[in-house]
Amino acid sequence: MIKLFQSWWKKGDRPASSENLSVADLLENNIPEHVAIIMDGNGRWARKRGMPRNMGHRSGMKAVKRATIAADELGISVLTLYAFSTENWKRPKEEVDYLMAIPQEFLALELDELVQKNVRIRMMGYTKELPDHTIAAMKEAIERTKNNTGLILNFALNYGSRREITESVKELAHSVQAGEISAEDITEEMIQSRLLSSGLPDPDLLIRTSGELRLSNFMLWQTAYSELWFTDLYWPDFGREHLFAAVAEFQRRTRRYGGLSK
Ligand code: FPP
Repeated sequence: MIKLFQSWWKKGDRPASSENLSVADLLENNIPEHVAIIMDGNGRWARKRGMPRNMGHRSGMKAVKRATIAADELGISVLTLYAFSTENWKRPKEEVDYLMAIPQEFLALELDELVQKNVRIRMMGYTKELPDHTIAAMKEAIERTKNNTGLILNFALNYGSRREITESVKELAHSVQAGEISAEDITEEMIQSRLLSSGLPDPDLLIRTSGELRLSNFMLWQTAYSELWFTDLYWPDFGREHLFAAVAEFQRRTRRYGGLSK
């Protein structure tokens, strides 16, 4: 077990001792309220195994289940998963079609258990371009879980941060044009409340898998003060222990928000 921890903890990320983290250990410190994940590396995971890329996405779906259960165990309030970006339409049609079928497949397999676990499903993205079957699956999940009060599982589906900021600013510009507000009165809160993440806290912790060190148009406004955690692991290999390691590292960080430590 110790060997496993050592292999995925990057230099400098490793805690004082390679502890085998338990829920109880983590609950002694502050748990991030909102964890957001850029689930990357499905394609490379598949290629490494000589499989078609879509098999990587299918395995990625299983990692979604593991991450959800682990987030729920820790009492995390919101788990946002970047499932499809506004730029992912550039991929071959076969891959896009597969990715658009995943929510349906995932929910057919897991929705009953998620309902039972008091998980509330939410979606953050532009529905206009999504196929009807994808929208229908998401709508059903949102409807069936709307009264749940536990973990919010927020799928970023056809999501793009620049687009959401642009839309927010456009809406405010219309209000200015209509004489409802003056340009000088525009506040950060007014922009924020018009983003697709409206009503959710900003992510405290942002995780990206696969060794890429970038944000890829994901929650650019909301992650202004998020703690970032990167791992070389490909998303289909991500499991409970990796979420726990990211949370443990989060607990060792000092958040200053531009101020000074107390
Ligand atoms: C990035 O890896 C991953 C995606 C674009 C899709 C992520 C989707 C899933 C993990 C499944 C989502 C599940 C649900 C339930 C909605 P990549 O394909 O870009 O990998 P690569 O960089 O190695 O090619």
